[in-house]
Amino acid sequence: MYIGVDYYPEQWPESRWPEDVRLMKELGVNVVRLAEFGWQLMEPEEGRYDFSLYDRAIKLLTDHGIKIVLGTPTATPPAWLIHKHPEILPVDENGVQISFGARRHYTVNSPVFHEFTLKIVTEMAKHFGPHPDVIGWQTDNEYGHEKSDRSYGEADRQAFQAWLKEKYGTLGELNREWGTVFWSQTYTDWSQIPVPRKVYQEHNPSLLLDFDRFCADAYTRYNRLQTECLRAHIRSGQFITHNFVYTDQAINQWDMAEDLDYVAYDNYPVWGGLAEPISPAAIAHQHDLCRGTKNGKGYWVMEELSGAQGWSKIGYLPRPGHIKLWTYQAISRGAEAIVYFRWRAAQFGTEEFCHGILDHDGLPKRKYYEVKEVIDSLKKHGDDWIASSIEAQAAVYYDPENAWAWNIQPQSSAFSHRRELLRHYTPAHNLNVATDAVNSRSSLEGYKAVFVPIYFLEDPVFTEKLKQYAENGGTVVFSYRSGVKKPNNFVTGKTLPGELSDMTGIRINEYESLQTGQGNKVKGSAGLLEGMESSATVWCDLIDPVSAEVLAVYEDCFYEGTAAVTRNHFGKGTVYYIGTALEDSMLTALYKDIFRHAGTETIETAEGVEVVRRGSFLSVMNHSAEAGAEITLPEGQWVDCATDEQMSRTTRLEPLGAKLFKIEF
Ligand code: GAL
Repeated sequence: MYIGVDYYPEQWPESRWPEDVRLMKELGVNVVRLAEFGWQLMEPEEGRYDFSLYDRAIKLLTDHGIKIVLGTPTATPPAWLIHKHPEILPVDENGVQISFGARRHYTVNSPVFHEFTLKIVTEMAKHFGPHPDVIGWQTDNEYGHEKSDRSYGEADRQAFQAWLKEKYGTLGELNREWGTVFWSQTYTDWSQIPVPRKVYQEHNPSLLLDFDRFCADAYTRYNRLQTECLRAHIRSGQFITHNFVYTDQAINQWDMAEDLDYVAYDNYPVWGGLAEPISPAAIAHQHDLCRGTKNGKGYWVMEELSGAQGWSKIGYLPRPGHIKLWTYQAISRGAEAIVYFRWRAAQFGTEEFCHGILDHDGLPKRKYYEVKEVIDSLKKHGDDWIASSIEAQAAVYYDPENAWAWNIQPQSSAFSHRRELLRHYTPAHNLNVATDAVNSRSSLEGYKAVFVPIYFLEDPVFTEKLKQYAENGGTVVFSYRSGVKKPNNFVTGKTLPGELSDMTGIRINEYESLQTGQGNKVKGSAGLLEGMESSATVWCDLIDPVSAEVLAVYEDCFYEGTAAVTRNHFGKGTVYYIGTALEDSMLTALYKDIFRHAGTETIETAEGVEVVRRGSFLSVMNHSAEAGAEITLPEGQWVDCATDEQMSRTTRLEPLGAKLFKIEF
């Protein structure tokens, strides 16, 4: 398997390179990513190309058997380019132009930027494309990151209007689909349509959702410009990827992935200013999204954190054990290559405090030896492990458009899309049930249960799939505020949950948005929930069961006794509706019941312990930095991959311990 580092030779004297390469070799590195911010070096002035620095670095690395992934450098348009063409710069929603001085300072809608992109990418592709040891390409770097997903300038406005013309054909259609009769917003000429710059309070929600779609499409097209240009010149066999982040920005990773051979992802469980890592479930969910983006195909972690990170503020120092733990977690959930960020901490520039495998002094110390231990541990089984597939029995819905719709109208001060999505993902993670990320592109066949949390923007294609899946015996779990919006971001005219009413066997005639600090209570009234209590926060759907049975009711307010959680039989299947944000303990009990009924294997572990099967491998990981944990392995004869010893059914993990087992047939 490929395991390597993100290396910036341009940030170090050339006299140091041989020592870097020697240390990399000793570490077991076999791939390096280079050049993704090197535009100025490769095109020091317009039209003059100079690849000599990277040629020398690539020669040194490949002479030592290290393969290369090259980044196209478009995330950092150089000063000469911006000086000559300031119209490339993006504009924020207040109409303020973003300045040169950091990175990602371009709008994807600038025709001039497209021209310069094509020139540098073509020259790079021609120059490095034939190289036998350049194995792949990364386009740009983290599209949309650092709020670069939306730009509100003149080029953007024109491109938005053209995009709308293509989408709607006539202004009459656009006016109907946006409901512009509201507040006299009817457009009588395409040129009147604004990009959603600052207004008093809020824009039309239909315009906002289309603007997000437009921004995402614009990035997809921009990426296609790069992939087509690369493919015209590179040798066959070189792959093209992009290192995504999944932060609900206006980027559609699923669309973009169609133009990529692999998906890649940058894994930073902790970053600047954070006092501790994000939850194990939150990290796991990002991996699931990444794996789901190209329908289960293995992906690269193009940046895997190896040291404390941050720009002006440094975050939590990853503890001894974290590097292995997060690497194993990534591979267990579908990664097939790991590239550590970064080889060495820079002594200058914005990222002086992004620590790497080596720190500023360049000496191999604790983190270096930890990475070495990880690489050594993967030598024997790494290839088999990454060649194995993940057979998830359950799935969790995610669609970027739904996230955008929520971010446009969170409807409660207590609502956060990420937090609520994780609320409904975490119980499956707690029970160590592997889940795929699905949306309308996915087939639901074979899953025992499909969770569809906060399904606000109802997608007719996906709803139809869910109906068929449930009719044929599947289990579907919806959460509160589902089925509310139509694709154009209008509210459905049907009684809620709209198109989901038959499936769920309920009607919602009233609901209450709860603000931060407010809450109701819920009491379980049937099945495993009987007698259990939970707070009810963020939102309360007041459920009138039609054919559904009641599993829990509200305890407070005028709607005391009203159904909060229901279960309905639909066709041969079962459909749940969770009307409020429940606590983890009640949700986990409910999920346990759901999995038991659906016939899905669960593995109960201590808090923070994650167990993942990938083919015949089983990885067990303890995310707690304080407490060790005892784990009962699932049935089977397991062998410890590190020692080749046969395991008894129980094993102990140190705090932050990670182990790999293989089943013996
Ligand atoms: C990533 C980015 C890298 C570097 C890193 C710092 O988001 O791709 O270039 O900035 O964060 O932690």
